Amino acid sequence: MSPSPAPDDSRFLTACRSQPTDVTPVWFMRQAGRYLPEYRALRQKHSLLELCHRPELAAQVTLQPVERLGVDAAILFADILLPFEPLGLGLTFTAGEGPQITRPIREAAQVFELPPVDPATDLAYVLDAVRATVRALPPPVPLIGFAGAPFTLASYAIEGSGTRNFVLTKRFMYAEPVAWHELMRRLAELVGSYLAAQARAGAAALQLFDSWVGCLSPADYATYVFPHSQRALQLASAPGVPVIHFGTDTATLLGDFARAGGDVIGVDWRVPLDVAWERIGPGHAIQGNLDPAALLAPRADLEQRVRDILARAAGRPGHIFNLGHGVLPETPLEAVQGVVEWVHGG
Ligand code: CP3
Repeated sequence: MSPSPAPDDSRFLTACRSQPTDVTPVWFMRQAGRYLPEYRALRQKHSLLELCHRPELAAQVTLQPVERLGVDAAILFADILLPFEPLGLGLTFTAGEGPQITRPIREAAQVFELPPVDPATDLAYVLDAVRATVRALPPPVPLIGFAGAPFTLASYAIEGSGTRNFVLTKRFMYAEPVAWHELMRRLAELVGSYLAAQARAGAAALQLFDSWVGCLSPADYATYVFPHSQRALQLASAPGVPVIHFGTDTATLLGDFARAGGDVIGVDWRVPLDVAWERIGPGHAIQGNLDPAALLAPRADLEQRVRDILARAAGRPGHIFNLGHGVLPETPLEAVQGVVEWVHGG
């Protein structure tokens, strides 16, 4: 019997390095979440923060979709906003409303009063969850660690919750450029060292989530965000640990977004995969880009949309199939299972 392949040989990591694979690797953002009955069962007993804070529970949730779906990678169960606890901003999750920050940043002076955060101690429970998950995962399945990008974190820190128009964030950015850049500099140092610590704890790949960066014009991205994302990605980079740089609504930003860094660029469904790849350039692998809402479409329609993305990738090495954003809670499990089957050649 041949020995089971080491994580280094996994098709997910191979595709991250833009090398050819037997079939296209696939995993899903939010693959551990409310669409999964076993996740909902655990959530009956534990709050979201409790699942994140307890490494054995975080590891258990991380494994659920791996066992259920046969995906090519696991993503650590955690949340991008966890660093707000040691930053003293206060973090709660309310059912149906998402995250609430109890002490949002509204004055420039607050930025200069933020306490230093050391991920090795202040977020030690996340690193313990990485170690517990790596021990529990079946050998070929690599674990993806992650963090929020400086802009997306700054937007939550300033708004205090999700937002449609980013009014408070942009006002702060334009009116208080010195404090803005200081906040972004601190967040970049924090998430860069946090990602590096996750890699040292055993994460085989890393993803930087800049979920809300698409609200910016290309010029504002270049001025207010690019150097900080670049710094975070530089700090995160370690030999042999590929980094995925993900954003949504980035069609017009893709050139600079890719130049900021990342071996793999994550794109959403608002731009066709082949067009996105063209803009990103040949030096990067690409991850995406099915609309999460397509999983609510009739099965034949969904299958056609999956096949269209595969056709646009055209068998070029370096495509990792994913959604353009996280799995929606309303998604039927059979739809997610169907996507894995079709991508793997069924
Ligand atoms: O499976 C995975 O993808 C790993 C776990 C994961 C969670 N959050 C758990 C979670 C990951 C990678 C995240 C990242 C995250 N968190 C992002 C970036 C990705 C994205 O979706 O844009 C953002 C912006 C957050 C902040 C956040 N956390 C929001 C806006 C919400 C509420 C949204 C909702 O669906 O209610 C959360 C809560 C959250 N984090 C859930 C999960 C599974 C919701 C489920 C629950 O309440 O049990």
